[in-house]
Amino acid sequence: MQILDGLLISQHIKDALKLQVAQLVTEGKKVPHLAAVLVGNNGASETYVNAKVKACAETGFKSTLIRLEDTISENRLLNVIGELNTDIDVDGILVQLPLPKHISDEKVINAIDISKDVDGFHPISIGKMVQGISTFVPATPHGIMLLLEHYKIDTRGMHAVVVGRSNIVGRPISILLSSNTNPGNCTVTICHSQTKNLRELCLQADLIVAALGKPEFLTGDMVKENAIIIDVGITRVPDASKKSGFALKGDVKFSEVAPKCSYITPVPGGVGPMTIAALMKNTFKACIDKN
Ligand code: GUN
Repeated sequence: MQILDGLLISQHIKDALKLQVAQLVTEGKKVPHLAAVLVGNNGASETYVNAKVKACAETGFKSTLIRLEDTISENRLLNVIGELNTDIDVDGILVQLPLPKHISDEKVINAIDISKDVDGFHPISIGKMVQGISTFVPATPHGIMLLLEHYKIDTRGMHAVVVGRSNIVGRPISILLSSNTNPGNCTVTICHSQTKNLRELCLQADLIVAALGKPEFLTGDMVKENAIIIDVGITRVPDASKKSGFALKGDVKFSEVAPKCSYITPVPGGVGPMTIAALMKNTFKACIDKN
């Protein structure tokens, strides 16, 4: 069993971006600028956004963090997006999800200028991705593909089972894994809460992406020998022994699954840091494409 080390590979990606940013500076060009919008004070969202802002600082990107009260109206949030759209210094806009219930994710995502849609959530970005046209690919699926690519895992012809059908991870990774690319070229099954024979399907899988958000859902008896396991879950589970008061748990029961598989991503240190690296790559692309 080999660990797919997202922490290490994301560092390689950020190091490479840092050199490219230094080159832009040498040429007197502008550096990439990410604007992150955080509504409310959800603890996990704060952690993710702070990690994204920190990654910007590490790689020489400019970043702006816009914090808004969770009582903000949808219209005021749409106005903030409108201002970021027209700000010529801003290359990428990220609105951290989830948003408060009174705000429509769809309206907010649709309001982002597609040339700045570094999360790749806009329907036009998704449509392009489906058709294999160059675009911003959502950061988590993009990061997973970069990780498979880095470890030179030949997924051609594999049966991939994706557990979870969210717009952010499950659906886009199913498209990417089935695309005529390398990695890619998988035969993909998407499972969800209504799937009847989930265990049987997982047992057939050469590659499983667990992205349903249920801690330790995927157990050893659901995985065939030598499968590749990508764990997207990262849930805060109360743990009095930790200073923070919680432990981070993936969707995979690591102690049971790891001994059976060929490759596995750990939690933390697997998909999470790769998501950030992919976001940085998207923001760099937004900056370069503009010039
Ligand atoms: N919430 C969970 N994952 C993501 C992500 O990749 N981007 C944004 N904006 N919000 C998220």
